[in-house]
Amino acid sequence: MPPPRAVTIIMVESPRIEQFKSLKGQRKIVCLTAYSAPMTHALDPHCDLLLVGDSVAMVLYGMDTTQGADLDMMIRHGQAVMRRRQTAVVIIDLPAGSYENSPEQALATARRVLDETGADGVKLEGGSQMAGHVARLVESDIAVLAHIGLLPQKATSKSGFRITGRTAEEAEQLASDARAVCDAGAFGIVMEGIIEPVAASIAANCPVPTIGIGASPACDGQILVTEDILGLYDGFTPKFVEKFADLQTDIGAAAAAFHEAVVSETFPLEQHLFWPKQ
Ligand code: KIV
Repeated sequence: MPPPRAVTIIMVESPRIEQFKSLKGQRKIVCLTAYSAPMTHALDPHCDLLLVGDSVAMVLYGMDTTQGADLDMMIRHGQAVMRRRQTAVVIIDLPAGSYENSPEQALATARRVLDETGADGVKLEGGSQMAGHVARLVESDIAVLAHIGLLPQKATSKSGFRITGRTAEEAEQLASDARAVCDAGAFGIVMEGIIEPVAASIAANCPVPTIGIGASPACDGQILVTEDILGLYDGFTPKFVEKFADLQTDIGAAAAAFHEAVVSETFPLEQHLFWPKQ
């Protein structure tokens, strides 16, 4: 793995990304995941950033980890989201196996994702080890959201999803990961599964927005998986999730009502039918 570059990279940023960065210190930044057109239509007015996350593999495809997401999947969902995006920044995850080998591989993958979707930038997982990759993308005018702490693409079903920052070594590693991706030019950092004081200290010292998920209220913003906050995901729900709706129950109730209407022959009604023209 090439060592992180020592120089600070300066890029010309799109107005959307500049606007996003300017929120730091103004108000908290609101981010959610989106994988589909109708969900984007509903979320866009309420979000500063929509992430087409590789969590799509777990949430929509029922896989055990995010590692099942592939490039075609990410591009398809990115295109669906971009068809309904109005104002939010849209960022697409580079899936596991599509970028880690070298900065050039990351560049080729990110270019394909952005050319085929028109999204605003990409996210990739990893701190210091990925700083060279981040710098290569930023030099090529690609906006990069970094992701440090708990890295779902590296979590096996054996290692699980482990909270980090509990030891002095881990805390120092996280702080240097944040510095490395910042120096490489990331426009923001997702901080996942980091103990609160460590996350708060990184947020306080970071020049770009920090977006927490299982991290700290001191982060500049928060992100969660949309299906988690809607109570729509039927798998494991982490402690850091708050459910703001219970759509699994609502959908079950709607399906039961449809069942009842069909078997009792109260659906379809006159207004649902087509007749020959007179
Ligand atoms: O894939 C994803 O949804 C993510 C967020 C939860 C940060 O990476």
